[in-house]
Amino acid sequence: MAMRIDGKKISADIKDELKEQVAGLKEKGISVCLAVIQVGNDPASTVYVGNKKKACAYIGIESRAYELPEETTEEELLDLIDQLNKDDSVNGILVQLPIPDHMDEKKVIEAISPKKDVDGFHPQSVGALSIGEPGFVSCTPAGIIQLLKRSGIEIEGKECVVVGRSNIVGKPMAMLLLRENGTVTICHSRTRNLKEVCRRADILVAAIGKPKFFDASYVKDGAVVIDVGIHRNENNKLCGDVDYDSVIDKVSAITPVPGGVGPMTIAMLMHNCVEAALRMNE
Ligand code: GUN
Repeated sequence: MAMRIDGKKISADIKDELKEQVAGLKEKGISVCLAVIQVGNDPASTVYVGNKKKACAYIGIESRAYELPEETTEEELLDLIDQLNKDDSVNGILVQLPIPDHMDEKKVIEAISPKKDVDGFHPQSVGALSIGEPGFVSCTPAGIIQLLKRSGIEIEGKECVVVGRSNIVGKPMAMLLLRENGTVTICHSRTRNLKEVCRRADILVAAIGKPKFFDASYVKDGAVVIDVGIHRNENNKLCGDVDYDSVIDKVSAITPVPGGVGPMTIAMLMHNCVEAALRMNE
């Protein structure tokens, strides 16, 4: 019987632990504050930003929302980030992506102080992860490591295959698995024999961005499968990159969609905010 890795429960546990930690910090006169910037009103972004604000409220983190109109210039956004960088009462800064096309995403990400980069997207944060220095880690892959550890799944020495090489998920995921002493392979759209490589995996991280792409033929008996994808199928039901019903009798553990990886991203964002406050008050 496969273990269903319960991201909803694990993320709730993490949020409860953070809530307690934040209460303790408050007693010492340390507060935690996250600035959340949204430019324009992309409906999906509004939902994500709303969920982030809700999580802050639950934990006791102050969230300062900056809802900027679509027409905001890049210079205006950079000015706001500069102001927030200099504001000692702000611990974390998050610019919800995507931002409008007339702005340079790279420039905006690089404007955020690495000390406040709770998304872990700044090149300095990414570089720090690569060389094992302290820095903020991208929330989704950091959440996956928590899912594995808190489910008692050992990473050390395991064959880990990550399918997807994005800067936000695939690459940091590979770095984190390596940091945990996994043997790591990164696959992507040009990988030859993708199926054979996936079938070697003790831990398969599916982040290819195609609904139900991975069926049983991609999975080794007893593998652990982490599904990063989230899609709506023809019946408007949520599904992942993995064909859950096809692989369920073959795997030893699997994350469902929804309720697997998804809830972990916000939990780890909250973790990074608390970490930012701790570092600032060291
Ligand atoms: N848009 C979709 N996911 C994310 C995220 O994790 N962080 C930010 N800043 N924007 C996003």
